[in-house]
Amino acid sequence: MIRDARPGDIDGLLALQAAWPGLPKWSRTHLVETMSGGRERLWVAEEDGQAAGFGALRVVPPEAEITLVVVEPGRVRRGLGRAILSRLHEAAREAGCSLVGLEVSATNRSAIALYESAGYRVVGRRPKYYHDGSDALLMSLRLA
Ligand SMILES: CC(C)(COP(=O)(O)OP(=O)(O)OC[C@H]1O[C@@H](n2cnc3c(N)ncnc32)[C@H](O)[C@@H]1OP(=O)(O)O)[C@@H](O)C(=O)NCCC(=O)NCCS
Repeated sequence: MIRDARPGDIDGLLALQAAWPGLPKWSRTHLVETMSGGRERLWVAEEDGQAAGFGALRVVPPEAEITLVVVEPGRVRRGLGRAILSRLHEAAREAGCSLVGLEVSATNRSAIALYESAGYRVVGRRPKYYHDGSDALLMSLRLA
């Protein structure tokens, strides 16, 4: 089940982020902000009553940006990432967006594979963009 995030999810979402050591971390404050009706919104994939993953989308029509997709390490490769991505695309369409962009580390093979499998293409690169010295790939998808 993919549903809107709510304040009671925050501890679980912080734990999910912490489970991936290399991932840029969002603060509690930022998570709260995404639940307060601004341009960025967050959805949770719930399994067995727990947050098993989440995704975030910033909407500025006609473009949207995927700002984060995370799945609990023990639940990867079971379609959750793809399901979260589909929900984000649906939300982007509902908001009147025709283009979705995102930024991902060139070393993040799983995420790149997920995005490519959904039809994203690399449209740019920012050299040495991340703290670990890796490049950022800019990817984008035109929504059908
Ligand atoms: C990237 C991430 C969200 C993928 O989530 P997931 O639930 O495993 O993805 P899915 O099971 O829906 O995979 C969908 C498709 O993506 C591709 N894919 C995902 N992980 C892959 C991997 N490790 N190797 C190769 N292909 C992969 C495959 O094409 C897969 O389809 P298939 O399983 O039918 O072959 C997850 O690995 C994760 O949370 N990583 C850490 C956080 C992160 O780096 N997020 C992205 C940056 S914001």
